This record gives sequence, C-alpha cells and structure tokens, in this order.
Amino acid sequence: MLVKKCKAEYASLDGQTIELQGWVRTNRNSKALGFIELNDGSCFSNVQVVYYQDSTQDYETVSKITLGSAIEVQGVLVCTPDSKQPFEIQAKTVHVLGMSDHTYPLQKKRHSFEYMREIPHIRPRANTYYAIFRLRSVLSMAIHTFFQERGFVYVHTPIITGNDAEGAGECFTVTTRQDDHYEEDFFGKHAQLTVSGQLHVEPFALTYRNVYTFGPTFRAENSNTTRHASEFWMIEPELAFADLSDNMDCIEEMIKYCISYCLEHAPEEMAFFEKMIDKDCIRRIKAVAESSFKRMTYTEAIEHLTKAKDQFENQEIYWGMDLQSEHERYICEKVVNGPVFLIDYPKEIKAFYMRVNEDQKTVAACDLLVPYVGELVGGSQREERYDVLEAKIQEMGISQETLQWYLDLRRFGGCKHSGFGLGFDRMLMYLSGIQNIRDVQPYPRTPRNLIF
Ligand code: 4AD
Ligand code: MG
Repeated sequence: MLVKKCKAEYASLDGQTIELQGWVRTNRNSKALGFIELNDGSCFSNVQVVYYQDSTQDYETVSKITLGSAIEVQGVLVCTPDSKQPFEIQAKTVHVLGMSDHTYPLQKKRHSFEYMREIPHIRPRANTYYAIFRLRSVLSMAIHTFFQERGFVYVHTPIITGNDAEGAGECFTVTTRQDDHYEEDFFGKHAQLTVSGQLHVEPFALTYRNVYTFGPTFRAENSNTTRHASEFWMIEPELAFADLSDNMDCIEEMIKYCISYCLEHAPEEMAFFEKMIDKDCIRRIKAVAESSFKRMTYTEAIEHLTKAKDQFENQEIYWGMDLQSEHERYICEKVVNGPVFLIDYPKEIKAFYMRVNEDQKTVAACDLLVPYVGELVGGSQREERYDVLEAKIQEMGISQETLQWYLDLRRFGGCKHSGFGLGFDRMLMYLSGIQNIRDVQPYPRTPRNLIF
C-alpha cells in the first residue's frame, strides 16, 4: 500500500495489517521499542513505523537498519488520535531490501546547498529537493492543463536546429567531428542545440491559432549567475490574431493559474517551503494571484532608474541601454513592489523578429519582471510585415538565406501574432523562494559544471 493512501483513508484502515515499502529517513530506538520514519515517495510526509522488542521479528537487526536503506514493512495500522501524527504502523516484520552502508552521504543534520549539489543522485531524498522535484512535476501539469483547457496545441519543436533563433550566438554546436568542417559533418551543415523553439513553433500558430512548446533549451552564455543555466526548460506559447496586450493578458492569466494550481496540488511542499526556505512565499504568491500586473514602458523605467542611479553598481543610466538585473529588480521590488511588465524596448537591444512600433525606435516587447527572480518571461508581438522584417534582418546582419522560410510565413497567410517564453526553472524559484537555479533542476548544467 502507498503511504498516500494510508494518509487519506487511515480511519477506515484502523486495525488492518498492511504492507509498505520505502526508504528509512530516521531510525532511533531504546531497549524496548524503536521508531523508523519511512518515506515511500508517494507523498511528502513520512510514516512512523514502531517496532517492539517483544513483538517484532528480529528486533536487534531492525534496530540496526541504517539511514537510506530500502525496507519492506508488514504491520498493523493503528490510529493515534492523541499524538502528532494521526496514525502509526506497528511492525510485525521489517525486511531489508537494500541496506545503505555507512558512507551514505545524507545524515540527520542540515547539509549545505553546495554539498548537496555534489551528490545529485542522492539529494532528491533530502527534504528540500524532495519537495522541489515534486513541485517541478506539479508545475509541469499546471502548464499543460492551463493550455490544454484553452485549446492550445502542444508542439514538439526540434532540439537540434540549424537556426540561432535569438541571433545572440550563444549556441552549443552538435557535431560528430573533432574539427570544424561542418560540410562533412553529420548533417552536412552546422547544427546546434536549440536556444528557443519560437521560430519553429510560429508555423504551427499560423495553422492551429494557439500553440505552445514546452521543452529543454540550451544556451552557452558564460554568465555564472544564480538565475542562468546552460540547460533549462522553457514554455513558448504563440497566439495568432493576438497583439502585445492580448499576449500580456495570457501571461498574467497563466502565472496566476500556475500559482493556484501548485497551492492546491502541492500543499505539503508549499508549506515546507514556507517553513524552511522562504517564510513569505505563500503570502507573496497568493498576493500575486489576486493582484493585477502593472505595465510600464521601458522609457518610464529609465526615468525611475535615472532618479535612483546612485544605488546601482552600474550607474550609467541612459535610454537605449540594456537593463541589468539590479535595474530590473529595482523596478519590480522598489518601484512597483510586485510583478510588472516592461514594454516597448529600444529595437536595438531586442531580437530581430519583434514588431517595430509607430515611433520606429521601439519594438512591441514585453518582459515580465518579478521580485527576487527578475526576468521571468520574455515576449513580444511578432513583425508580420514582410518588408519590415526583411529590412530588419539585413540591418542586423543576419543571414537571410537561413531565415527565408521564416520570412515566407509573412507571404503565405501571415497575420498579426504574438508569443512569449516562460523560464520554467525560474518560475519554480519564484514559487518556492529557492534562490539558486542549481537547486531547482535535477541535474543542473552551468559553466564548468556537469556532474554525470
Ligand atoms: O527572453 P528569452 O531569451 O526569450 C526567448 O527565448 C523568446 N524566443 C521567447 C518567445 O518569445 N517565444 O527567454 C525567455 C525566458 C526568460 O525570460 C527567462 O525566464 C528564461 O527564459 N531564461 C533562462 N532561464 C534559465 N537559464 C537561462 N540561461 C535562461 N535564459 C532565459
Ligand atoms: Mg529575455
């Protein structure tokens, strides 16, 4: 039986003999009896197994079972209305399925995040990671449920690509060769890991109207920050017949939906984060779910930053600059005190596909900035005018040849459309209050860091 089921039905299971499998979180004992905290993976909480000198088989052996061991317990479920946990298992037999030896790296004390990052094969069994990796799964379902309920089609865009979508040159090359003669390489050309599924998903938006991708993304940025990973997951919805404002409405609705979904489907995990990681996390995200997100132009943001420029490490504030994370955080944490969309960025600092505004100086971009994390979402209305897009590609010195197919979409029934990218791992950081992206990914990949 699963512990989750016991927890849900203990009243009706009172007095019954059941069998559980799981891993030992703690084992302590005295002469007459002992207690094992068992976790079987089905839910966040452990179950208490009590064993007795005079009624449990092989008491001596059971009392020596080490932390981390896999065991099978047969015993009676007994309701315990007077104690902290509503029921316990009084063991008849405890069999060791796999003993953990004394080098087991998790002992009954708090280990540092740095220590845990060295043992990615063991750390899921530590509470913080145990909670975060289930939240990861729950948040994935939140995303899918949100989009599926609204009729969006899930598209699997390729992981190996011939395009550098953002034009930022931060790609990993895919090769079977030692040299760089790409013409003789596996694909007969230069192939890369995708930095974004957006360009490949746009044709599907011009077919199904509303679509999304959800998959791994790779960036060879050498920025060793707490919010950048070389491999991360991104959700990229694309909406036909939608302008920038429709796009922001969708982002806002999605974020709020995900918050409510996670509070509902991972209540034990969220309660754990509130207790152990970030005392304010539940209050903060609930407030976000009930707020309405502010919208501010880049130009207005520059005005705010100019007034406060003494506070920044990077004090040179001017219109046209790329905002650093200290600037982004100042805007959402100090000026707005909550999530804010920054819109209408200078076209020079944004990707080629963003739609040029009437002023000819800015593009219809929207970045969602949130406290503690900074940029959570990046999106835009897309340039649907063939001539404008073609000129832009040339202006930015991008090879038109590799993007002709993308330009062609503007010739074959092109229309107004918009989309965005949500950083999945950053969303997890935002929900849990965990401050380093390395602690929300099962196997983080960052510069000079790839553990098996
Ligand atoms: O702002 P970005 O670069 O936007 C795009 O890739 C667009 N093609 C999206 C679109 O319009 N379809 O990335 C989107 C989001 C960022 O806001 C951030 O949350 C996350 O992806 N992100 C990263 N997360 C972790 N590690 C990195 N290195 C990230 N780079 C971006
Ligand atoms: Mg961005």
